[in-house]
Amino acid sequence: MTAFVKAKCNQCHVVAGHGVNLGPDLLESVKKLKGHKLLQQIIEPSSEINEKFRNTQFITDEGRVIIGVIMKEDDKAYHIATNLLNPKSLTVLPKKQIDEMIVSKVSPMPVGLINVLTQDEILDLHAFLESGGKHLPEHMKHHHGEIHDQHTPPK
Ligand code: HEC
Repeated sequence: MTAFVKAKCNQCHVVAGHGVNLGPDLLESVKKLKGHKLLQQIIEPSSEINEKFRNTQFITDEGRVIIGVIMKEDDKAYHIATNLLNPKSLTVLPKKQIDEMIVSKVSPMPVGLINVLTQDEILDLHAFLESGGKHLPEHMKHHHGEIHDQHTPPK
C-alpha cells in the first residue's frame, strides 16, 4: 500500500477504495493480469492499452498535435487532459479547429513511475496488487466494505 501511494498509483487507480479512478480499477485488472504480465503493464503501460482508457491524438488545422484523454465534450469543444497526473488542467480544443482525430498508441499512464521505488517496494506493490489489495495496513482496514467483516470495532 505504501509503495502504491509513493509511486502515485493512487492518483489514477482505485484499489480497495483508495485512490482516484482515472485509470482502470486494478482489482478488475489483476483478474486477467498476473505475474510477469502485470509487472509489464506497470513498466511499459503502452505495451497493451486497456480499451476503455485510451489517449486521443488530435491534429489541428494549424498542424498542432494534442494528445490526451477526453474528459468532457460539448457541442463546440473537447476538454482534454494532456497529463493525467494533473487532470484538472484541461486544454479546450474547439471542434472546428480539428483536422484529424485518431486513437493514440501511447498509454495515458506515465512510464517510469516505479523508478522511485526500491526493489523490495516493487515486490511489495506487485504482491499487494496480485492479492487484490486485501493486504492493507491495519489502520486502513476498517474503511471498506469488502474487508469490513474482519474488523472488530473498539469497545
Ligand atoms: C497518471 C495516471 C496513472 C498513474 C499515476 C498510474 N496509472 Fe496505471 N493506468 C492508467 C491508465 C489511464 C491506464 C489504462 C491504459 C493502459 O492500459 O495503459 C492504466 C493501466 C494500468 C494497468 C493495466 C490495467 C489494465 O486493465 O490493462 C496496470 C496494471 C496499472 N495501470 C498499474 C499501475 C500502477 C501499479 C501504478 C503505480 C506505479 C499506476 N498504474 C499509476 C493511469 C495511471
